[in-house]
Amino acid sequence: MTILRRQRLILILLGSALIACTTPGQSGNMAERTVAPAAKSVAAETSEPIIDYHERFIPVVARHGMVVGPEQLAAEVGAKILRDGGNAVDAAVATGFALAVTYPRAGNLAGGGFMLIHLAEENRQTLVDYRESAPAAASRDMFLDAQGELDHQREYFSLQSAGVPGTVAGLLYAQDTYGALSREEVLAPAIALAREGFPVSFALSFEINASAQRLRQNPAAAQLFFRPDGSAYAIGDTWRQPDLAWTLGQISANGAEGFYRGEVAQRIAAEMAAGGGLITAQDLAGYRVVERQPVRGTYRGFDVVSTPPPSSGGIHILQILNVLEGYDLQAMGHNSATYLHHLAESMKLAYADRSLYLGDPDFVDVPVAQLIDKRYAARQRARIDGMHATPAAQIAPGRPLGNESTETTHYTVADRFGNVVSNTYTLNFSFGSHIAVPGTGMLLNNEMADFAASPGNANAFGLVQGEANKIEPGKRPLSSMSPTIVLRDGKPWLATGSPGGSVIITTVLQMALNAMEFDMNVATAAAEPRIHHQWMPDVLRMEEGFSPDTVRLLEAMGQAVDIAGRTTGRTNSIMLENGWLYGASDTRRPGGWVAGY
Ligand code: GLY
Repeated sequence: MTILRRQRLILILLGSALIACTTPGQSGNMAERTVAPAAKSVAAETSEPIIDYHERFIPVVARHGMVVGPEQLAAEVGAKILRDGGNAVDAAVATGFALAVTYPRAGNLAGGGFMLIHLAEENRQTLVDYRESAPAAASRDMFLDAQGELDHQREYFSLQSAGVPGTVAGLLYAQDTYGALSREEVLAPAIALAREGFPVSFALSFEINASAQRLRQNPAAAQLFFRPDGSAYAIGDTWRQPDLAWTLGQISANGAEGFYRGEVAQRIAAEMAAGGGLITAQDLAGYRVVERQPVRGTYRGFDVVSTPPPSSGGIHILQILNVLEGYDLQAMGHNSATYLHHLAESMKLAYADRSLYLGDPDFVDVPVAQLIDKRYAARQRARIDGMHATPAAQIAPGRPLGNESTETTHYTVADRFGNVVSNTYTLNFSFGSHIAVPGTGMLLNNEMADFAASPGNANAFGLVQGEANKIEPGKRPLSSMSPTIVLRDGKPWLATGSPGGSVIITTVLQMALNAMEFDMNVATAAAEPRIHHQWMPDVLRMEEGFSPDTVRLLEAMGQAVDIAGRTTGRTNSIMLENGWLYGASDTRRPGGWVAGY
């Protein structure tokens, strides 16, 4: 018999001898099962946080405010903003600017992303889309050579690989629209970190060294990341970025104009003109943030709010949840071969749809409502063989009513007013194009590589994409970024997200499933090993940590298992329960931090 963990918590709380048990399937048709009443009752405020020592991983607990992110100094910047009276949006914006200084592999000014915000007072969620856009001179076949072959060097590591940056416009828009502090206040900590410097951590040293060869190839990047004699900074050395401090100062003094017009814009445009890049002063001046409605769905009584196109993330998370809702997952058992098989088969169906239907909604008609319709999920579910893997080649996209060398980063913020921010932003690859703009201290993104540079063929993440995501001037490349907020009883309960390119979707999915379906706390939900299947290539990626028996059973079902020794994603999450904040920074990568008070 299985005792649900949260039922155990109830037992702890009541100090009762009453044993509340449930057997899998006892609650009838699991497709119709909603949140257990017991789970609802623990959500009431308690004077002490609830920690269940049955779980192997324990979250960090705070009462009033919390920032969970990939790097300590930036998370502490956000937490200080919260303590000093800022709200979650102020803290998220300050953290975003600080990460551009302290976490250069993915924190950025010249990248883009998505910020999902829960506004407590209005009890609504909104999404700030600050994804990069293609320059006016971009064209469908711009990365094909004379033979019609993809020129990956140009696609990934040239000035042409950069989309028009959205981060500065996005962060400032969010702050101006929903923040409480001034622009100068949220930028001041980042400026101080860049100007005064900070000690190089193990994680920073490790990350720069891992990309050193390519960073050294660009003179401006070499000057930024290495000592004047070309050697690497040692752990503990003070790293100062005066050019970046200047750029941040321009933004602080002049707002978005300070980045998209004026001296910073001129330096970007001059570098582009000199090196064969496409971004012009007009492209920069024309960049626009778009505030969008998030996508919404339900899973067994939870409300799942996530990222809409031009990200594919929210749609596919909801699609997969809709398919899985029809199975008794608890009876299968968490991370059993049967469970993982059904997860993988559901993932394949969603990624097949991604290849056909997804693109920038301002350019293509994405059938969002049909894709996340539960009746469509029922039809898709009928295509799944519970005992045998369906070869990817036999899975055509439904008809609705690579190498992982990528980086992106996610952080999550909650404040004492009940506001929550879930933000994912990126340069695309780790350190983006590895090209810095001279005199600005900032790296350029290589987000153009997220377009289908050769529709029908795989991109840098091995994702096969279609005409819907072809390159067009002004268009935003399709993303997988999936900042997500799960509501319980209409209130934010879990805020999460992840880096990882194509694995973002399956990482966030499993994080949410572990919490919603298997009742895990936020730290355990993050730590459990994960799988990833993206339809093409027809490979089931498994992290280490699954038993050999499970792997053998999956292989016997026809899954082409790849235990590559690579990890899948890296969540930074907050769970809000019984008046407390529970934070967990995934330990899959070094340096993550939970700052709370
Ligand atoms: N550049 C990774 C993504 O947007 O999904």
